Amino acid sequence: MKLLLCLSMLFISSLPSSYSCNSKDENTLLQIKKHFNNPDLLSTWSPATDCCTSWTGIECTNGRVTLLSMSKDNNLVGHIPDQIGDLLELQSLEMSYMNLTGNIPRTITKLKHLDFIFLKWNRLSGPIPDYISELKNVTFMDLSYNKFTGPVPGWLTQMPKLQTFQIDNNSLTGPIPNSFGSFADSVPNLFLKNNKLSGKIPESLSKIDFQAVVLAGNSFTGDGSMFFGGNKRTVQVDLSRNKFEFDLSKVKFGKSMALLDLSHNRIFGKLPRELTELPLQRFNISYNRLCGKIPRGGKLQTFKSYEFAHNRCLCGSPLKKAC
Ligand SMILES: *[C@@H]1O[C@H](CO)[C@@H](O)[C@H](O)[C@H]1NC(C)=O
Ligand SMILES: *[C@@H]1O[C@H](CO)[C@@H](O)[C@H](O)[C@H]1NC(C)=O
Ligand SMILES: *[C@@H]1O[C@H](CO)[C@@H](O)[C@H](O)[C@H]1NC(C)=O
Ligand SMILES: *[C@@H]1O[C@H](CO)[C@@H](O)[C@H](O)[C@H]1NC(C)=O
Repeated sequence: MKLLLCLSMLFISSLPSSYSCNSKDENTLLQIKKHFNNPDLLSTWSPATDCCTSWTGIECTNGRVTLLSMSKDNNLVGHIPDQIGDLLELQSLEMSYMNLTGNIPRTITKLKHLDFIFLKWNRLSGPIPDYISELKNVTFMDLSYNKFTGPVPGWLTQMPKLQTFQIDNNSLTGPIPNSFGSFADSVPNLFLKNNKLSGKIPESLSKIDFQAVVLAGNSFTGDGSMFFGGNKRTVQVDLSRNKFEFDLSKVKFGKSMALLDLSHNRIFGKLPRELTELPLQRFNISYNRLCGKIPRGGKLQTFKSYEFAHNRCLCGSPLKKAC
């Protein structure tokens, strides 16, 4: 009995060691710690313990580091360390709320398994580097709340698995790239809110079935109707606070449209009757140039009058103005 217990304990204690932290990965992490001047946030990163089981923000598969998450409002200063590129099995990289400066280092292209990139709420700057397009396994990229400048990267179409690209509150300029009319394998959700984007949306985007497009708070002009279409599966369109100018009467909506914000534009025409057939959860058409009777039914009358306010001549419930 005693022997059995002893043996099983031996067996159990030998389990973790067969998957203990890869020594190259451990060294890389210790270099990253040093790069940030040994901050309190990384006090658990000590050679005395196993990086896979005892270090904050680290996860491993078979002893290789697959996740690095430094997501604390801890005011770490400096650049993203080049050594990141030596964590060769990394799948998820998170360095958010950290006040990091500089750009994303080229060494990131060594991370062939990278799937998730979360770098939001830093002070990263410069154009989004085109070598990011070499990361063919990335599905999710969030660069929101940084200081990136330059264009919206046209090469997003070359990232075959991309599902979400988020870059709210940066300083990107210029138009939506023409290449966005040719997403092939995977059409990503686009969150480009609060940048300095402008120009007309390429007509070719009418072919693309986005699930979510958020362009709020830019200076886009002209037609925005290409984001809609009777056969599309689009759930969210937010074009608010731009200078879009198109006839809403002619727009056909897909059956899944639930979050629709067109407020603060120059949209004219009437509200299509079909709006009463949509599973709307959010709806805002205030501050446009719309006219005519608000169709009755569906979810439309559940929204507040201020969500219809400041149009040219809309009338009917929920507005007080009778037709
Ligand atoms: C980021 O760094 C700047 C300058 O070092 C500092 O003024 C600011 O308070 C920091 N922000 C945060 C959220 O810690
Ligand atoms: C993507 O990941 C898979 C499995 O993790 C890997 O086999 C493949 O080489 C990666 N693709 C690229 C282009 O790096
Ligand atoms: C994001 O951008 C909007 C519009 O420019 C601005 O009002 C808002 O304060 C920004 N948010 C942050 C957290 O900087
Ligand atoms: C709709 O837009 C108006 C005017 O900007 C704003 O007051 C209201 O909060 C918005 N509603 C929603 C649900 O976003």
